[in-house]
Amino acid sequence: MALPNNAQQQLENLYEEMRPRSLYPLWEVLASLVTPKPNAATRSAKWQFAEVRDYLMRAGDLISAHDAERRVLILENPGLPGTSAITTSLYAGLQLILPGEVAPSHRHTQSALRFIVEGEGAYTAVDGERTIMREGDFVITPTWTWHDHGNDSSKPMVWLDGLDIPMVAMFNAGFAENGAEDEQAVTAPEGTSDAKYASGLLPVDWKPTRQTSPIFNYPYARTREALAGLAKAGPPDACHGYKLRYVNPANGGAPMATMGTFMQLLPKGFAGAPYRSTDGTVFSVVDGEGESTIGGKTFRWKKRDHFVVPSWAKVVHKAASEAVLFSFSDRPVQERLDLWREQR
Ligand SMILES: [Fe+2]
Repeated sequence: MALPNNAQQQLENLYEEMRPRSLYPLWEVLASLVTPKPNAATRSAKWQFAEVRDYLMRAGDLISAHDAERRVLILENPGLPGTSAITTSLYAGLQLILPGEVAPSHRHTQSALRFIVEGEGAYTAVDGERTIMREGDFVITPTWTWHDHGNDSSKPMVWLDGLDIPMVAMFNAGFAENGAEDEQAVTAPEGTSDAKYASGLLPVDWKPTRQTSPIFNYPYARTREALAGLAKAGPPDACHGYKLRYVNPANGGAPMATMGTFMQLLPKGFAGAPYRSTDGTVFSVVDGEGESTIGGKTFRWKKRDHFVVPSWAKVVHKAASEAVLFSFSDRPVQERLDLWREQR
């Protein structure tokens, strides 16, 4: 807006006078605060597994999981440097545990998901129960629960950590503490949570005490079987192929209050229709090869690669061979807040 010179000068003087009193004119910043569409600096990006693995192994030569507390390489969004965030609400990293190592017990208010990328046989312990992890398994660490990891197998294990760190930081609701012992006492046999909660049955008098799913490990074998069954049952969705969401059996919602998790099967030769949604999404390639065009930029991917689709960026998935993609996003939060949108 054009103002007479003296009026503009008087406004500048007014701003100057107000600034020490922590007062600012909204009309100068309104357009950048309330935008016609999402406009965060988040960019699309891909991390090739062979490269990340090499850096992880080199870090493994230099620092133990114990000394690092968690030996993780953060997948930081190139548009959000210095934030340790992969989207404005989510954190992602690839964690390495070598044979014989223990990542010591701690707890925090941030919720975590583990998605197993390579290896088999390491365990995660949460609240006295251990689960042995295999490739493609999705394992939950609920908010404020003690957890430690160990690798009793003979091979390195790598998994994707997904956490709601930026979201918790936004609320300034972060708490964390270290356990007295590296490894927590095991008080329940392996498979307890699976037996109690993961068969379409629940203990008769059980009442949930939190929004997080009581299922500890959603094993890949079962997820893959469900996808295969779905693929036999009918045609794929034009945008997603065959896509399932992981579910909390206690309430039908997402497994965690802050993060939704998904697994999709793209048949060989699948060429998806364009899709976008407001939940910036992190993908882990479980199997197969293909490419995703995100906001006009094409990323070729194969097994164990990772990539991120920013909020409202148009994405088109194509599969050269049958492909399986795991993904997670903040969709349950946006849905709860009546913010989530999609466009096909
Ligand atoms: Fe942790």
